[in-house]
Amino acid sequence: MCGIVGYSGPQNSVGPIIEGLSRLEYRGYDSAGICLKINNELQIIKKEGKLDNLKAILGESRPFSNTGIGHTRWATHGAVTTDNAHPHGNEIFAVVHNGIIENAQSLKKDLLAEGFQFKSQTDSEVFLVLLTKFYKQTGNTLQSISKAFNLITGNSAFVITEKASDKLYAVKRSAPLVVGENKENREAFVSSDPFALVGFAPRIYFPQDGVICEGVVTANDVTVNFYELDLTPSSRYKFQANSMSMDSTSKGPYEHYMLKEIHEQPALVDKLAAFYIKNEGRKELDTLKGFKAPGWHLTACGTAWHAGLVIKNYFEQINRQRADVDIASEFRYREPILNKGEVGLFISQSGETADTLACQELCKEKGIETFSIVNTEGSTLFRNSDKNFLIHAGVEIGVASTKAFTLQALTGYLMSRAMEGTLDDPKLFSEIQLLSNRIGELCAQSDSLKEVAEKIYTKKGFIFTGRGKYFPIALEGALKLKEIAYVHAEGYAAGELKHGPIALIDESIVNIAVVGPELLEKTVSNVEEVKARRGIMVVVGPKDSPEIEHLADAYIPLDFNGLPNLSPLYVNVALQFLAYHIAKLKGTDIDKPRNLAKSVTVE
Ligand code: AGP
Repeated sequence: MCGIVGYSGPQNSVGPIIEGLSRLEYRGYDSAGICLKINNELQIIKKEGKLDNLKAILGESRPFSNTGIGHTRWATHGAVTTDNAHPHGNEIFAVVHNGIIENAQSLKKDLLAEGFQFKSQTDSEVFLVLLTKFYKQTGNTLQSISKAFNLITGNSAFVITEKASDKLYAVKRSAPLVVGENKENREAFVSSDPFALVGFAPRIYFPQDGVICEGVVTANDVTVNFYELDLTPSSRYKFQANSMSMDSTSKGPYEHYMLKEIHEQPALVDKLAAFYIKNEGRKELDTLKGFKAPGWHLTACGTAWHAGLVIKNYFEQINRQRADVDIASEFRYREPILNKGEVGLFISQSGETADTLACQELCKEKGIETFSIVNTEGSTLFRNSDKNFLIHAGVEIGVASTKAFTLQALTGYLMSRAMEGTLDDPKLFSEIQLLSNRIGELCAQSDSLKEVAEKIYTKKGFIFTGRGKYFPIALEGALKLKEIAYVHAEGYAAGELKHGPIALIDESIVNIAVVGPELLEKTVSNVEEVKARRGIMVVVGPKDSPEIEHLADAYIPLDFNGLPNLSPLYVNVALQFLAYHIAKLKGTDIDKPRNLAKSVTVE
């Protein structure tokens, strides 16, 4: 979704705002804009397209202002145009918004009837017009924010700047928002994500829903005030030191963040195993020893949902505990049956995905314990969960999730072994080490996957198939290819093909079959069926398996030995590379694929 930032302080706000927006651009890159107070006038500079377009304009004009707000957009309401770009402003206020004002249309109708005008087709501008209406009535900014915020519905976060002062204001409901403070430099900050404030604000605050934040910078201090909507002082916020580090945000020697994040996996797999089995993470994992839930509800979206499907197999096959896996946007409106003692397990890289958070709320309302497998410490999911299992992937910047998937599934596997009480089984640690080595070997042979990509990247459609524990991997492989190569790709259970999808097969369609040593014969016959219809066959399968290798137009031999539980995570890395090379050959924007955003904070 959108990225929002604000700055007030002695230095030129353009610097921290643009740096903040560039770190938040993974959230949306349809347009970008900034509002600065220059000569006591609110000046808005905005441009459709990537942040570079805005930087180019600012580069020429080099404006200076102590106060400003900025935005990078993922369009929800109103086409991708400069008029619909944020900030939205007038002579009194300027506003940036992340989220959706669900009742914008009816509010806009009433405001138009009262004679107010609008310059854009966005829902966001409704908040600006409401603010202005109430300010004209009260002359009081806090009152106006409260009145306007009380009228809107939906998940939203706003940052507001005004002509009347250098203060920064912010307020949110079910959308990520963090306020930052640098006492030493007398600076106040606001952002959608603490990551944008790393190196700027050592002190950060997470306000709760409906808490108005006011950043006030004076000649010798900076304070952040918090108010309830009735403007009484509020204590509904969480303070913490900003412990995130910046070292993980450069691409290093890699051309893309996605490629860097794929290559980070061997070391991260080792680090996670050491953290949870040998070091400080063991304490939290040991709380699961002998834990038996009558039922688990694993709920997530996209790639995280696929990780849930992998974890289901562990909980059911190793712990014999029922684990239902649901797509969050379906679960939240399906009135799911939630029984006492069951557990909601929410999987999310960002910890801010609106549908997943709504499912957590639903479970909490029903008195169900909520656990999370999450990457972002301090995220809303993290703060609202009864138990958190961090995946320690570091910042994942590539919009197409790679390392987070592997570490989400691995964390679920470690939870399963913890419940089974076998964390000290030496075979466990050695299997994880072997996984790390095998992924390392794949990283070293990435070029061989490139050769396969060169054979198939021009093809019209791709069908990924897998059986049993490889079915989720077929789904994930297809999703990665869709996300970054913009080709039509579907994932299917191999046994399902003949019940319909096989009708798609002809010489323009590539079937990428994920074949493990288990159920090999079964899958061989599926490969035969596709070959019989002249489909192009790419098989990711066990090395030294001539019985299936000869059937394939391209064969990706993998060594499954010693990976009885973790081979799906290994195979998936091969599909990550395949998608990467196909996208590279197609010349798409791999790190910021069109129409996507890294963290989906609206429904
Ligand atoms: C994956 O590559 C996508 N970025 C997307 O499917 C993602 O997995 C989904 O939006 C869930 O995000 P989360 O893990 O941050 O909740």
